[in-house]
Amino acid sequence: MAMATLRQARWLSHTCIAVSRRTSIDSLHRVQPMQLLHSGVVASSSIVCPPATAAVYETLGSPDQVLRLVQMDGRELEDGEVCVKMLAAPINPSDINRIEGTYPMRPTVPAVGGTEGVGVVVAVTPGVRNLTIDDWVIPSHPHLGTWATHIAKEEGAWCKVGQDVPLEYAATISVNPCTALRMLTDFVDLEAGDVVVQNGATSMVGQCVIQLAHLRKIQTVNLVRDRSGVDEVKARLSSLGAEHVFTEEELGKLDMKNFLKEIGAGAKLGLNCVGGSTATAVMKLLGEGGTLVTYGGMSKKPIKLATGPLIFKDIQLRGFWLGKWKTKHSNEDFAAMTKYLLELVRDDKLRYITEKVPFEDFNHALDKAMGKHGSAPKQVLVFK
Ligand SMILES: NC(=O)c1ccc[n+]([C@@H]2O[C@H](COP(=O)([O-])OP(=O)(O)OC[C@H]3O[C@@H](n4cnc5c(N)ncnc54)[C@H](OP(=O)(O)O)[C@@H]3O)[C@@H](O)[C@H]2O)c1
Repeated sequence: MAMATLRQARWLSHTCIAVSRRTSIDSLHRVQPMQLLHSGVVASSSIVCPPATAAVYETLGSPDQVLRLVQMDGRELEDGEVCVKMLAAPINPSDINRIEGTYPMRPTVPAVGGTEGVGVVVAVTPGVRNLTIDDWVIPSHPHLGTWATHIAKEEGAWCKVGQDVPLEYAATISVNPCTALRMLTDFVDLEAGDVVVQNGATSMVGQCVIQLAHLRKIQTVNLVRDRSGVDEVKARLSSLGAEHVFTEEELGKLDMKNFLKEIGAGAKLGLNCVGGSTATAVMKLLGEGGTLVTYGGMSKKPIKLATGPLIFKDIQLRGFWLGKWKTKHSNEDFAAMTKYLLELVRDDKLRYITEKVPFEDFNHALDKAMGKHGSAPKQVLVFK
């Protein structure tokens, strides 16, 4: 109990949550902190990070029930820290899972939501070596709480990125594109002409898989959920380089033997974002010795394994978690990976659909990200 209290106290001092909570969206209009730092004015001899508005949860639960927009006090920076004014931050499925308490890493509450995003450095302390005012930065580790207008943290918590891409790409480069890249690189040796099959192809990870595979002349077979307007979705994925796009229903009607012949006796790699019967469908499209990598469970249904492919094709079952990859690799490795992916964005070789939403409309963006309005593009909160 004492430990929890101490941890909470440390958390409060680091993230400057105000004890008094004000009511939701109204508070956004009362916060005008940035004149202070943009004008370069520093209060007396100290360097401060101004008051922030943040989406905070004090208990775990459904995000639409437990998140509140609150005002947090500003605070003096400790030496070695920088103050970052957030520019944009996405709402990812794992952010929702963290708040629900279903993610392996359980945050200590109260906590600020969000793990990814991009911000601009607006204040630095003398001990800071590698960052300067006006640099764009993304979090190095997914523990930051990015749904906040301002964040005070040590410089090591941040990774500098270039400013030659649209901010919604800088805000979203560090999770889903990295996951797509790692899964295409770390499990099987893929060569030009090989085939990768995936479900959840409309996800941001899925869109990146299509394009990163296409760059290496690797074919993709893509499974999507049926919906009205499915032809438009298929056309969009084809324009990214997808060779084949099917709904699960269409796949069921396919002459599987012929199709497997067409794609060279099956895929070497299968990527499972969804679970349930669509994971089985991915498995059936794998070739001899193929590998099925599970990285998401969007349907919240258990994976159904197909007995035949397991026995007769010796299918390998694996899992991927970017969080683990990060613990085994340096910040420099991570920086190199995001730099490479941002260069692809800059060169128009990597793109994906996002919807930018003002932070003031947080609740609406959250509802969309939680699927309450059906399929929706990735919601990216944009801060003033
Ligand atoms: N393991 C890792 O390290 C790692 C890293 C990054 C992401 N992920 C996981 O990868 C998955 C995709 O993330 P993302 O950010 O790329 O997704 P996203 O862009 O937010 O898109 C959500 C995707 O999930 C699909 N979906 C939503 N609800 C579904 C349901 N009930 N049944 C089937 N499909 C459903 C959507 O399909 P529609 O277009 O049909 O709506 C869409 O393809 C998530 O599970 C995420 O947690 C894992």
